[in-house]
Amino acid sequence: MTMDTLAFMTTMENRFSFSAEDKSILQANAAWGAEIAAEMAEHFYGYLGCDTEMNAIINASEGRIQRLTDTFIKWFAEMFTGIDDWGAVYAHRRWQIGVVHVKVGIQPQHIVPAMSTVIHEVAKKLKAEGKSEELKDALGRICMIDLAFIEQSYVDVSTSAVLKETGWSSALLKRLISTGAASIN
Ligand code: HEM
Repeated sequence: MTMDTLAFMTTMENRFSFSAEDKSILQANAAWGAEIAAEMAEHFYGYLGCDTEMNAIINASEGRIQRLTDTFIKWFAEMFTGIDDWGAVYAHRRWQIGVVHVKVGIQPQHIVPAMSTVIHEVAKKLKAEGKSEELKDALGRICMIDLAFIEQSYVDVSTSAVLKETGWSSALLKRLISTGAASIN
């Protein structure tokens, strides 16, 4: 089961009302986004470092924290540029980010508060620098779309892995899940 990443992007744009105006505002502020990305990365990994479990993950291997900082800076700046106007390349890249997190065993319970930290820190920065509410709203929407990609890839990758390993059909897996869920209070 491989996700149609561009179709998912389009669905998310509609669901979050991520508009052409949002895209223009983000692109007009792309230089600012790139400028503050390193500071946002510092807040982000500072936050993850305060949690015992997440701290262990981000420092689990030699050079990981530096690699993470570099990739975060790139990710943050891409929310403003949209890479290819939030098209196929952007969507595929967001999907891949989700897949990397599934591979290293990061769960939704880690991702959601982490994204909330990004939104909180960026809101403080926007306020301090007198940036518009429109920019804040546009950033909030694209952060939510990126979050949806990571969350969805968790379910899709896990499901694909189970189907591949067991040879079950997706209908059987769905039935097992609903039957199992029905017995949980
Ligand atoms: C807002 C949420 C998050 C964003 C936007 C984000 C962003 C990224 C990006 C862009 C990558 C690189 C993916 C690639 O190599 O293609 C990455 C990898 C990774 N992230 Fe995250 N991340 C988030 C949350 C977290 C959390 C909560 C943790 C840990 C608890 C985490 C741990 C990792 C690890 C371990 C890797 C792989 C690093 C390696 O190359 O060794 N991430 N993340």
